[in-house]
Amino acid sequence: MANSKVTTVKLKEMKEKGEKITVLTCYDYSTAKVLDQSGIDVLLVGDSLGMVLLGYESTIPVTMDDILIHTRAVSRGTRSALVIADMPFMSYQISVSESVRNAGRFLQEAGANAVKLEGGREISKTVEAINAAGIPVMGHLGLTPQSINKLGGFRVQGKDEAAARIILNNALALQDAGAFAIVLECVPAPLAKMVTERLDIPTIGIGAGVNCDGQVLVIHDLLGLYSDITPKFAKQYAALHLTINEAVTKYKAEVKEGKFPGPEHSFGMDEKEIGKLY
Ligand code: KIV
Repeated sequence: MANSKVTTVKLKEMKEKGEKITVLTCYDYSTAKVLDQSGIDVLLVGDSLGMVLLGYESTIPVTMDDILIHTRAVSRGTRSALVIADMPFMSYQISVSESVRNAGRFLQEAGANAVKLEGGREISKTVEAINAAGIPVMGHLGLTPQSINKLGGFRVQGKDEAAARIILNNALALQDAGAFAIVLECVPAPLAKMVTERLDIPTIGIGAGVNCDGQVLVIHDLLGLYSDITPKFAKQYAALHLTINEAVTKYKAEVKEGKFPGPEHSFGMDEKEIGKLY
């Protein structure tokens, strides 16, 4: 029997019970089916798709259309997991009303259950308005890749008292604004632990140590399918690039040698019928 649908309420209960939350990025229908059937709690259609699927150097060029297309695909392949659409750069920075309209499109047109936004106190009015429209919002603090030009590179955030305090205060501001969870990316483990203890809502860590309420990884990192950037926190659980290379090399050899397709992969025809054509 299929598991029941994961909700934002269930995620809060999981935090209260000390049950870890599993999150993975996902961008397509077939992978969504596998991850959903594996019991992953949350599928995030991250703007990381710009890097791992589309080959951009950052997430900045990703558009509303990119996230809409991939969210639709993931929603079609998901029964139980909560599906979160990542709001791309410039889809929530212009005005609160435009942000609400854009957030709504992910639920109405693409079947998402929630959206994710990067930023702290400066976006709290936006988070409040989106949440008030009935759209659950996940926050994202620490290394926020859409601000890479301001941050000066992919590096650990919140290492001294002042920077750590800003992250803590931003987390509290997002919670007050109604966020249901917060991603903490690339922050020192002791800071993530403290933020996790101070919040009632779950924290989801990526490069933030083991004490967050849950963990998220980019699926291409986990499977060993992306090697342009290899952050310390991105544990590779498989080396699919090797498996793919092996399979493709075998296919190439069999085609070159005339071994593929064999009779078991071909369709026959009555000899009399083909004979009429000669
Ligand atoms: O876009 C993404 O994949 C993300 C996760 C790394 C949290 O934001």
